[in-house]
Amino acid sequence: MAKDTYKRLRMVADLRMQNLPAAALPEGYHWQSWRPMLTERHAQVKWHSFRNDLDGRVFGCLSRPEGCLSLVREIAAQRTFCANATWLVVYQPEPNWPPVDVGTIQGILRSGGCGAVQNVGVVPEHRGAGLGRALMLKAMAGFRLDGMSATSLEVTARNIPAVKLYESLGFTVRQTLYRVAETGEALSKSDMDQLEHRDDPFWP
Ligand SMILES: CC(C)(COP(=O)(O)OP(=O)(O)OC[C@H]1O[C@@H](n2cnc3c(N)ncnc32)[C@H](O)[C@@H]1OP(=O)(O)O)[C@@H](O)C(=O)NCCC(=O)NCCS
Repeated sequence: MAKDTYKRLRMVADLRMQNLPAAALPEGYHWQSWRPMLTERHAQVKWHSFRNDLDGRVFGCLSRPEGCLSLVREIAAQRTFCANATWLVVYQPEPNWPPVDVGTIQGILRSGGCGAVQNVGVVPEHRGAGLGRALMLKAMAGFRLDGMSATSLEVTARNIPAVKLYESLGFTVRQTLYRVAETGEALSKSDMDQLEHRDDPFWP
C-alpha cells in the first residue's frame, strides 16, 4: 500500500501584489491564446513535458497521449475553465521555420477568488530558458484579469524544479496532502499513520 502513495504540496500565491512581473518570452518564441481547436496541441505538449518526468510516473494519465487528451478535454469542458490563464508557447525562430509547440498551461477559476493552475509543462529540449516562469506569469495575469485574488496549485513534493519555480514566484505551501497514486484520493490522518513509507519511491 505504501508504494501507491505520494506527498503533494498545495501552494498558493497572492495576486493582489501591485507589480506582477510581465510574462516575457525569449526571442523566437510566441504565445498562442486558447481556442477549442488547440485541445490536441495542448495535450501533445503536456504529454511530451510529463511522460519522462516525476509526475508522469506518479499520474499514469500524464504519461500517455490519450490520458493527456482526456485531461485537457475535461479541463476545457469545466464551467469555470479560464481561457485567460490557458496558453501555448510556440517556438518559431524564423518565419519559414516550422512552428513547434513547446509549453502549455491551463487554468480553472475556483470559489473564493482563487485561480487553480493545471499542470504547467515545458518540453525537455526547451527547459531552462525561462518558459516555465513565463507560462506561470501569463496564467497569473489571466487569473487577475478574471478577478481572482490568489493562484493555487498542487505539486509533488519531490518535483524540485517545479517547487523552486513556484517559490521564486511567491508561492508558499499551505497544505501537505498524501494521495493514493491510482485514484488521486487524499488519505486521512489515520490512513497515513498506518502506512509504512520506507519503500515508497515518492516519499521524501
Ligand atoms: C517545471 C518546469 C515547467 C520548469 O520549466 P522551465 O522552462 O525549465 O523553467 P524556467 O526556465 O522558467 O525556470 C524558472 C525557475 O524554475 C526553477 N527551476 C527550473 N528548472 C530547475 C531545475 N532543474 N532545478 C532547480 N530549479 C529549477 C528555478 O528557480 C528557475 O529560475 P532560475 O532560472 O532563475 O534559476 C519544467 O521542468 C517541466 O515541464 N517539468 C515537467 C512537468 C512538471 O513537472 N510540471 C510541473 C507540474 S506541478
